[in-house]
Amino acid sequence: MCGIIGYTGGRPAATLLIDGLKRLEYRGYDSSGIAVLDGEKLTTVKTVGKIAELDKKANGGKDVIGTVGIGHTRWATHGVPSDINSHPHVSANGRFAVVHNGIIENYAELKSELIAKGIPFASDTDSEVIAQLVQYLYDGDMLTTLREVCARLVGSYAVGLISTDDCGTLYATRKDNPLVVGLGRNENFIASDFAAALEHTHDFVQLGDGEIARLTPSSVTFYSSNGVRIEKTPFRVDWDISQAEKGGYPHFMLKEIYEQPKALTDTVRPRVKGSSIVLDKIALDTRNANLIEKIDIIGCGSAYHAGIVGKYFIEKNCRIRVNCELASEYIYSNPITDSRTLTIIISQSGETADTLAALRLAKKLGSHTIAIVNVVESAIAREADDVLYTHAGPEIAVATTKGYTTQVAALYLVGLKIAKLKHTLSDARYAELLDGILALPQQVRAQLDDVAGIKKYAKRFAQHKCVFFIGRGTDYAASLEGALKLKEISYIHAEAYAAGELKHGTISLIEEGTVTLALATQRALFYKMLSNIKAVQSRKGTVLAVASAANSEVSEFTDGMLVIPDCDDDLSPVLSAVVLQLFAYYVAAERGCDIDKPRNLAKSVTVE
Ligand code: F6R
Repeated sequence: MCGIIGYTGGRPAATLLIDGLKRLEYRGYDSSGIAVLDGEKLTTVKTVGKIAELDKKANGGKDVIGTVGIGHTRWATHGVPSDINSHPHVSANGRFAVVHNGIIENYAELKSELIAKGIPFASDTDSEVIAQLVQYLYDGDMLTTLREVCARLVGSYAVGLISTDDCGTLYATRKDNPLVVGLGRNENFIASDFAAALEHTHDFVQLGDGEIARLTPSSVTFYSSNGVRIEKTPFRVDWDISQAEKGGYPHFMLKEIYEQPKALTDTVRPRVKGSSIVLDKIALDTRNANLIEKIDIIGCGSAYHAGIVGKYFIEKNCRIRVNCELASEYIYSNPITDSRTLTIIISQSGETADTLAALRLAKKLGSHTIAIVNVVESAIAREADDVLYTHAGPEIAVATTKGYTTQVAALYLVGLKIAKLKHTLSDARYAELLDGILALPQQVRAQLDDVAGIKKYAKRFAQHKCVFFIGRGTDYAASLEGALKLKEISYIHAEAYAAGELKHGTISLIEEGTVTLALATQRALFYKMLSNIKAVQSRKGTVLAVASAANSEVSEFTDGMLVIPDCDDDLSPVLSAVVLQLFAYYVAAERGCDIDKPRNLAKSVTVE
């Protein structure tokens, strides 16, 4: 998705903006640009392609003089990727430059209106309408102008703006799209993502919906949507900038896979006190737990897959009906929910538009909401009734890895806590599961120490066109995530099926050479799974098993096997995920794919 960085201070803005944009590259983009003010002189450099091109065009920033500016990475939605369609967009009179994330839904109508008033447009984008509307409505006071502009916009936006009338000043506003203000010493920043400014400051303020920020090098003032000056409390982001760098790994994805033991420890360990699970300030006590009639777990993509693992775990151990819903479907499904439904919202970024909309709807319908989120102070974290942070640290690769496994771990904690409160597990079983969860980081570390087998099979299967993933129970949930990882980064067509479903249609696709990854970690379902594997082999399909050491007899019936450490049946999805992430990673590496930035994908999907 698009990225924004803005700066006002005493240093040359262009270099700083380009560096900030490089930190946002991971979000996915197709073009980029900067606009910088030097007194009343506004210079804009924009280009399609990589930031390296922009850097070259601006001569590393040296050719663009000035100490206040805005920068943008664009992920095309309206208008093809091109120099003209890149941001910043400058108003027809050359006085206002704007960067925008989001979608202006009524842009066509506004554009016609402004053209009729004699304001020409240069691009095909929805975003340009903001710059032209600022020009049209400008009355000498940017605060009132921005309020009027916002009142005319329908859609979602995070906006950064500079004006030749107001040389040292940077303005920002937002609605349903993330934007933070970074507080420095004699310099201040705006950014769509902490990563862009983390090199310069750890102190941030989250801009609320409809609020406006006015930044100069020495001050930041905030205004509510009705123009009243407001105070906002900064928060500190203790992520280290080195966490947002590759640190010797060839890709962020591999680095993040290897960060999982720490991420899982940070998510789980501080919440286990003796034999108790202490979930921050989450309102879960015996009374509340006994009132829960149903749980809805909602997310998109991998977060949804984490939710499916959670469904299996919670239904089995808490005896509560759990629906796992795709956020984009939930919001238009007239959902059946009320105060007896607990809604668990899952999102790494905390900014996914569909998930945010689902959260708002669930709240509106009276459900209590708990968000499992990684990014602190993100929209979902702020709006949910309760939040459980996953502490995975910054995730830069577009394909989530540590984000997903820590979501699963957080769901285990929530599930086990509810089971304890509702007395649905014996003390011994509760202790077994808790010990199992605490052992996961160490088990993942052991897996990461030995990846030779995964590399071997990844090389062998890298040129295949289609891969199936099958599993039963919680292995089916893990298969869904394994298939998504493979397809999104290697572009191999991959599909996951509940193993028992094969015979109801999909088996017709199995022919000589078709590769199936069969997850067989579940002791209880092992022999059922063996039958499914044999059915694939009987059609001359090639089967690679992912199984725990205890189930290693599966290798007698398969063409290969990837072993995960022995663990409780209920907890294997975390360990299977690590194998499947590495498998996808090495397949994609073998195929020469752009692993951290797969085609057409964006890290944080802030549009519906
Ligand atoms: C896949 C992936 C996506 C995200 C999805 C939700 O690897 O990363 O499917 O899981 O876009 O994102 P968040 O968790 O930020 O809401």
